Amino acid sequence: MVNYGKQSLDQSDIDAVVEALKSDWITQGPVVEVFENSLCSYFGASRACAVANGTAALHLTALALGWQTRDVVVTTPVTFVATANCIVYTGATPDFVDIDPITYTIDPNRVEEKVKSLRLKGEQIKAIIGVDYAGHPCDWKALRDIADQYELQLVSDNCHALGASYNRDKQYAVKYADVVTQSYHPVKHITTGEGGAVLTNDSSIDEKVRLLRTHGIWKGSSESKNQKSILSQSWYYEMHELGYNYRITDFQCALGSSQLKKLDRFVGARRKIASLYDQMFAGVDFLTIPRSQRPIRHAYHLYPLQVDFEKAGINKSLVFGKMNAAGVNLQVHYIPVHLQPYYRREYGFKRGDYPVSETFYEREISLPMFPGVTDEVQKTVVSQIKESLCV
Ligand SMILES: Cc1ncc(COP(=O)(O)O)c(C=O)c1O
Repeated sequence: MVNYGKQSLDQSDIDAVVEALKSDWITQGPVVEVFENSLCSYFGASRACAVANGTAALHLTALALGWQTRDVVVTTPVTFVATANCIVYTGATPDFVDIDPITYTIDPNRVEEKVKSLRLKGEQIKAIIGVDYAGHPCDWKALRDIADQYELQLVSDNCHALGASYNRDKQYAVKYADVVTQSYHPVKHITTGEGGAVLTNDSSIDEKVRLLRTHGIWKGSSESKNQKSILSQSWYYEMHELGYNYRITDFQCALGSSQLKKLDRFVGARRKIASLYDQMFAGVDFLTIPRSQRPIRHAYHLYPLQVDFEKAGINKSLVFGKMNAAGVNLQVHYIPVHLQPYYRREYGFKRGDYPVSETFYEREISLPMFPGVTDEVQKTVVSQIKESLCV
């Protein structure tokens, strides 16, 4: 069965992991820092803190930015639930802003409207989380301008867009956002099994994230932070904040460093697959292929095809069933977060609140998209879809 996403591993990745496993440290060792340094170089960040997964990266970001009960944080409904859940973890209130119908990323005009209307109601809006959905960067310049004008924090959930560029710049994410989060789940561009990172140019945010990654504990005492006393009391530690164990292991980071070297190649392979889908779907009725509006380089974490099922007079489940019988497991990204039972129940969101996102969801199917997808698989997928549409 071919899924929508899958890791791409080779012998050099396996060798890197084996080497880490044979070393003295399999966790809390030097390989973590090596990976963090390579993340800094590739993404142009002054600091990177590798963590257990992308959800932990978001949680630590929310804590480091000091979100609290009275705060409201806005994001897109078209994302994985983890993006919104990190707001809830802190006790702050999640709110949403609809997407742009071309790029499927948060619509900056609507963000500004939302900020103004929340302020009018006396609500304390604290931050915006943009998500580079499917690998298409948000309109980061517009989001930065809004964040500056209204004194908001700006977070980039960059999990889908590793290796993308914005205004011809691959290092755009940390330039515009105060904090950037990534995930290295196997369906993402590079993998560490489970894993993630928080990238920033703000050393105080990085220090908070690091402290909270390890139970809020630091070695040595706060009064005597000079090297001599730490060395003479190597057993001593203090807990300063309520933190977590969100660490990542050395062997995962060995895999991460090995994978990062191939990121440009992986993105190139994804773009080639996308371009073949684009060609094969060109001119087909009822379909919209992924588009872009700005000078961006799409990283194609996903290939989100829009099918106007209503106009075509067919049913999404039927297409999924047919494809399954042909050995292809499609997916949908995403059921809008505000329609999840938890968000409806706890915050009163309902169908109709974010119509662009809802229509997008109804029409969306994610086609197989990872470097191992063959031309044969692409042809099967395309012919099944055309057959279902009777075109
Ligand atoms: C946009 C987005 N944010 C956050 C996450 C969470 O990452 P992880 O699965 O590594 O916890 C994901 C993972 O699917 C994601 O797609």
